[in-house]
Amino acid sequence: MSLKKHSGSLELGECTRNPGYRDVDGDGSAAETIGDHPGEKRDSTSVKLDSEAAEEYTQLRPYAGMPKEVLLLYSSQARYRVPREILFWLTVACTLALVALTIAVIALSPRCLSWWQSSPVYQIYPRSFKDSDGDGVGDLKGIQEQLDHFQYLNIKSVWISPFYRSPMKDFGYDVEDFRAIDPLFGTMQDFEDLLAEMHNKGLKLIMDFIPNHTSDRHRWFNLSRLRDPHYEDYYVWTDCNATTPRPNNWVSVFGNSSWTYDEVRGQCYLHQFLKEQPDLNFRNPHVRQEMIDIIHFWLGKGVDGFRMDAVKHILEAAHLRDEPQVDPNKPPELVTSEWDLHHDYTTSQLGLHDLLREWRAEMDIYSREPGRYRFMVTESYDYHEVDKTMMYYSTPLVKESDFPFNFYLLDLPQNTSGLWVQHLVHLWMANMPKGQWANWVVGNHDKPRIASSSGHTYIRVINMLLLTLPGTPTTYYGEEIGMENINVTDSQIQDPRSPMQWSDDMNAGFNNKTNITWLPVHPDYRTVNVEVENSFILLPHSVSSQPPQTVLYL
Ligand code: NOJ
Repeated sequence: MSLKKHSGSLELGECTRNPGYRDVDGDGSAAETIGDHPGEKRDSTSVKLDSEAAEEYTQLRPYAGMPKEVLLLYSSQARYRVPREILFWLTVACTLALVALTIAVIALSPRCLSWWQSSPVYQIYPRSFKDSDGDGVGDLKGIQEQLDHFQYLNIKSVWISPFYRSPMKDFGYDVEDFRAIDPLFGTMQDFEDLLAEMHNKGLKLIMDFIPNHTSDRHRWFNLSRLRDPHYEDYYVWTDCNATTPRPNNWVSVFGNSSWTYDEVRGQCYLHQFLKEQPDLNFRNPHVRQEMIDIIHFWLGKGVDGFRMDAVKHILEAAHLRDEPQVDPNKPPELVTSEWDLHHDYTTSQLGLHDLLREWRAEMDIYSREPGRYRFMVTESYDYHEVDKTMMYYSTPLVKESDFPFNFYLLDLPQNTSGLWVQHLVHLWMANMPKGQWANWVVGNHDKPRIASSSGHTYIRVINMLLLTLPGTPTTYYGEEIGMENINVTDSQIQDPRSPMQWSDDMNAGFNNKTNITWLPVHPDYRTVNVEVENSFILLPHSVSSQPPQTVLYL
């Protein structure tokens, strides 16, 4: 507005009144000479020549609040334009580099660990962990009483072996009602209290899901043997000879034929485990739906994950042909052990992974809330066929288990050599699909105590190995203090899992109300117990005032 190009000369108005204007003469004449009202003095002899006016202009310095036109004039000068453009392109380049770097860092950094990756899994055998009511058997309230044990060990994931209503022919793996708590362990209210308290303390509860079979006392089985139209095909039935009930050569994992004749129905039913554990028929869509409903039932209650039991047995070939013998020359009547056959028709059948993936998808529905990821681990002993085990891992396209249990280290206590350790570790790491998470098991309810099979020399090193290998370690109650198997008499032979040794009090602190425990406490409990082990490590903790780390005492 006030700067006008006028027949080659410049008229500077406001800018000359601005303090940024340098009065060359120092007498204020410049304002008079080229003011906004040239009429006043323009005709006077003091009017500058055009060239002089331009010279004046070059003497102007940029100043705050200069008008747009002046600004544009300056900004187009090379000495302003070039640095500005350099700065602009530098900013663009830096921003792009920063974005690229951020993407690269995100893409290359390991993902944040989920709860099942950042803590060992601690398996509790509820019968033997803590008895709260003095009936001699461990229970859910007892587990709740002892939750500080996990805080102290910095363990976040607790797997509790089956506590469903069960006749306990197979320590709870024979389920009579998938929606009920066995009275031995307490009530549904006890379970809900335990779960709520665990969540309060930041602990996760993993429970067993047992899809392959039920107890023969399950309502479904009773209705099935009565040929109730809805339940008739809930189990695997076939015609057989009542006196020699062996429709084919299949054998149970626990030995002998996997078929039993049922007098009520007049047919044989399949059981890959005990005869009191009839196999469900997963070719029946109603059975599949029942199992999905059970998954929803427990996830709805808030459980954090499932250990999927005996998954490789879930489906059998519908044709029921004989399986090939390992030793073809062995007389068929001597084929009685699972090691006698190649299990081509009773394990790892086509469709098995579809079932597991379907269950996984149901679990994912409950995993969307932040911090509520539901974890799935599968149990399948594939021995020399590690590739079969690896198939339970999720793929980049389809989710399945977070990991299949790695049982190879279970062999360690019997075979302790550095080379063998290296071989077993390599076996898993080399075969695990890229990007998946490793895990290690050295003790569980199906195996003898480490201390009993490896001897005391190796307990510490085996536990240390477990805790230092990459991936999630799984440990079994009592292994952290080096408990040993008890010797049980024939009448007691239910399970060698003796009560947890908490202290040197009566019954090792397992209960303090009576002198009864469902199995005898191991005689070494006065020196091998949680209290004694705590006393070893409490001192360094209190001195350094460090938070407790995950510690297996051995
Ligand atoms: C595997 C369990 O670990 C075992 O204890 C049980 O007997 C079978 N599955 C049958 O459920």
